[in-house]
Amino acid sequence: MSPYDLLFATVLRRMDPERAHGLAFGLIRASARVPGLRALVRARFAPALPALRVTALGLDLPGPFGLAAGFDKNAVGVDGLTALGFDFVEIGTVTAQPQPGNPRPRLFRLTRDRALVNRMGFNNEGSAAVAARLARGPRGPVVGVNIGKTKAVPESEAVADYVISTERLAPHADYLVVNVSSPNTPGLRDLQAADRLRPLLAAVRAAADRAVPGGRVPLLVKIAPDLADEDVDAVAGLALDLGLDGIIATNTTIAREGLATGPAAVQATGAGGLSGAPLKERSLAVLRRLYARVGDRVTLIGVGGVETADDVWERVLAGATLVQGYTGFIYAGPGWTRALHRGLAERLAASPYATLAEAVGAAARAGKEAA
Ligand code: FNR
Repeated sequence: MSPYDLLFATVLRRMDPERAHGLAFGLIRASARVPGLRALVRARFAPALPALRVTALGLDLPGPFGLAAGFDKNAVGVDGLTALGFDFVEIGTVTAQPQPGNPRPRLFRLTRDRALVNRMGFNNEGSAAVAARLARGPRGPVVGVNIGKTKAVPESEAVADYVISTERLAPHADYLVVNVSSPNTPGLRDLQAADRLRPLLAAVRAAADRAVPGGRVPLLVKIAPDLADEDVDAVAGLALDLGLDGIIATNTTIAREGLATGPAAVQATGAGGLSGAPLKERSLAVLRRLYARVGDRVTLIGVGGVETADDVWERVLAGATLVQGYTGFIYAGPGWTRALHRGLAERLAASPYATLAEAVGAAARAGKEAA
């Protein structure tokens, strides 16, 4: 048992999950502020593995594995999180207006499933405050910025709401994500339909270009695992049509099938998005479907139920240039990224591919040749 496993079993899992998150994140942030400690943390948890370096979305990254959106909603802990070995951090979801999110409790552990259910509801300080924070911070680690719709804004004004956040945040973003896939903002996922998504993405693209004259912030869309296959295909087609830079697959699911946790305990958590191990197969299937349609013309980020180096490698072979995780971090603790990076470097070395870039989509290509 690792020290973190012991801490989790004895302390963290007995705490309310949101309080445990606050405590752990507080420690991560504090450690980054102590002179010398951040370097020590980095040396222990984020040893450099040059073989894993990747270029994606026009960015140079120390490796392919990032922290998914939702952990650091307000961009308060990027330094501490990269010291723990995340190759990039996606902050947010940020909305145009500050909002408190849903009433607590709104985060639940399904420990037997190594899963979480959350209905946080985009609690965040709003895009003006987050932009000001990003403007103050040193530009170092790669930071993606994930934006969503303010709950109080009617759906008919959704585009304008995303545009406000884009204008504020694009100058500080290494890449920008339009989140239309959280189950916790009423009506949000309806924006995934191609006829609504097209004008939204076009408006955000134009706003980002206005906000960063002469530059081009990469633009991605994040989709739900609950989309029907035809809708996944429609998003792929739209991405190609609009020249979108990337697609993130996937957000959490509203499905509750195949859980080891009993139905009464699952029901007791109520509505929300399920993340972690039970999401793995569907997220992988969506990624494969996207790669079959967009190939290397659109950068794919695989996320959902990634726990081990094998899971990361499987996403890469299925077509993901970058991979993210969140729930695995809660259950595995601070040694997580180191184990993933080491295992990934071993798999790459044992593979026929000289670089991670060569491995991206290799399983899909092999499948095509065999067919
Ligand atoms: C999330 N996720 C998320 N995604 C997003 O785009 N914006 C957000 O604000 C949040 N918030 C959030 C909160 C909590 C508590 C969790 C667990 C998750 C979804 C997350 O980024 C990721 O897509 C899914 O959790 C699937 O990955 P994992 O957790 O299975 O690795």
